[in-house]
Amino acid sequence: MEKDFWHARWQTGQIGFHQNEINPYLVDYWTSLELEPQSRVFVPLCGKTLDMIWLLDQGHTVIGNEISQLAVEAFFRENRLTPAIRQQAAYTSWSCDRMEILCGDFFDLVPTDIGRIDALYDRAALIALPPGQRARYVARITQLLKPQTPCLLVTLDYEQGKMSGPPFAVSADEVRRLYQEGFSIEQLAHTDVLDDQPRFREKGLDAMRESVYRLRRY
Ligand SMILES: C[S@@+](CC[C@H](N)C(=O)[O-])C[C@H]1O[C@@H](n2cnc3c(N)ncnc32)[C@H](O)[C@@H]1O
Repeated sequence: MEKDFWHARWQTGQIGFHQNEINPYLVDYWTSLELEPQSRVFVPLCGKTLDMIWLLDQGHTVIGNEISQLAVEAFFRENRLTPAIRQQAAYTSWSCDRMEILCGDFFDLVPTDIGRIDALYDRAALIALPPGQRARYVARITQLLKPQTPCLLVTLDYEQGKMSGPPFAVSADEVRRLYQEGFSIEQLAHTDVLDDQPRFREKGLDAMRESVYRLRRY
């Protein structure tokens, strides 16, 4: 998607992807990554997700990346965190204790921007990208992570012809195609979710599944 699309979404409050509760897959499967509490976790395309608060509560340091300044402002304000704001290379860094969000385009990130990363959490990042951008996203993720880094990936799959994204459909085959060269891939869950998502039934879908994967960088 073009950057303007996301800026407009945040400006007009069209953020149906935002969850007011912690993602249940994060709670159920995060421990399977077997991380030390002091691990540094990267959350690309983070929006203002409360999942970052949950990760902080586990003792982790969290590095988010988000293109919309409105989203970043909202995250700090709504969670009553007072950020220090400074310019860092191509990004504006918003930070407070163990929390930092780099505000800017994911596709400009280089390893020195985010430093050491021990794990990655992707919920609604890969599926926010149209097909043509996904290989570039995965290539950049691969470049940013050191060998053995584990990732938790949450995707959605549905009949793409019945609805235009985002969120886009990303099948298990596509996850394999995108990640198999650089990562081991284990599917941890595969759940029908349409009954919990009436807005997608109204858009014409008759099936929608969420999947959770544990990836590990080779
Ligand atoms: C579908 S939302 C998901 C947000 C978050 N992961 C969540 O679970 O609520 C995708 C987010 O990615 C951001 N985004 C889109 N393209 C981006 C890019 N190139 N660089 C950084 N952020 C981007 C959007 O502004 C939006 O907040």
